[in-house]
Amino acid sequence: MRKFFTTLSLICSLFAITSICQRPLKNVFAGHFRIGAALNEKQFTGRDKRGAGIVTTNFNTISPENVLKWEAIQPVEGKFDFSKADEYVAFGEKHKMFIVGHTLVWHNQTPKWVFEGPDGKQASKELLTKRLRDHIFKVVGRYKGKIGAWDVVNEAMNDDGSYRESEWFKILGKEYLALAFRFAHEADPPADLYYNDYSLEMAEKRRGTIEMVRWLLDQKAPIGGVGSQSHHRMEWPAIEDQEKTLTDLATLGLKIAITELDIDVLPNPSDYRGAEVSVNFERRPELDPFKKSFPAERQSALAKRYQDLFRVFVKHSKLIDRVTFWCVTDGDSWLNGWPVRGRTNHPLLWDRAGKPKPAFGAVVETAAGN
Ligand code: XIL
Repeated sequence: MRKFFTTLSLICSLFAITSICQRPLKNVFAGHFRIGAALNEKQFTGRDKRGAGIVTTNFNTISPENVLKWEAIQPVEGKFDFSKADEYVAFGEKHKMFIVGHTLVWHNQTPKWVFEGPDGKQASKELLTKRLRDHIFKVVGRYKGKIGAWDVVNEAMNDDGSYRESEWFKILGKEYLALAFRFAHEADPPADLYYNDYSLEMAEKRRGTIEMVRWLLDQKAPIGGVGSQSHHRMEWPAIEDQEKTLTDLATLGLKIAITELDIDVLPNPSDYRGAEVSVNFERRPELDPFKKSFPAERQSALAKRYQDLFRVFVKHSKLIDRVTFWCVTDGDSWLNGWPVRGRTNHPLLWDRAGKPKPAFGAVVETAAGN
């Protein structure tokens, strides 16, 4: 008899897990916010059928992991290559998704020529402004009415809340931010225009960012939202800081999006907390402990961590326009190569075989306020 009940309860829990896993995220969060993922080329061209299937079943918004960055679109001055970006947008249109553009102005993945004059020295203010305008007009104009939201400027602030001394800043001063938003707005007036950055959970960076956005608003720059990348770790940020980030950003009265969510489960090689893509540390075996498998106890801890975060998102869902994961399955994640190359990370809701992890079920449960 006991055996019968044990088997029955096992069957029931398996059934519960299976039925949770069969609930597409976009249905589950329909009353709260849009839910999305950043796509690589294999997914939006359909070469990765399994990945594309996960995306079309679960997500109603997509972001491009790399294909809309400056180096991909205009690697050489005046030579635009929209082939991959066109496929990305076509995928979103076919599946009736809210399509995000990432990113127009950044200090990374931007070719050197952008900041150089004809003499090989620093470009003049006039030349850089013209290049900024041309690029934005060409790219935003091409996807007018198709891309619903743009990350217009990415990562303009330092972790202490000061302005990052990027080439953009050095040549144009902070005015480049206002210019970028104006050009993007001119090119597609109804599009939602975002400022996007990481580590907004750090009080100093958040303060500086909010001040910068207020300055943009004073300048009448057409900014419509703030994107909080949310490249998180198991131990950082504290849940209270996640919540405070949302409520502080909400004081701006703009849209808020969680734009690049993932949770790094590997040991941190330093006390660095940001998401600057050029940071790199040497690989050591102790930094890569889950190469062969990700233990059940770590799976549960990750599920709990995702659940804690989504409880905050659901609690404040009126403030949030969308929550987007940065990549789809663990195997796709940029965190396998950053900030240490060649590790095996497990930061997302689907494992390398495309199976939903316990974290998936934990996230689903939060939608009902559990
Ligand atoms: C990352 C991509 O995922 C990688 O494939 C690429 O090599 C580097 O950039 N913040 C951002 C994203 O805004 O564009 C970055 O994407 C991750 C950090």
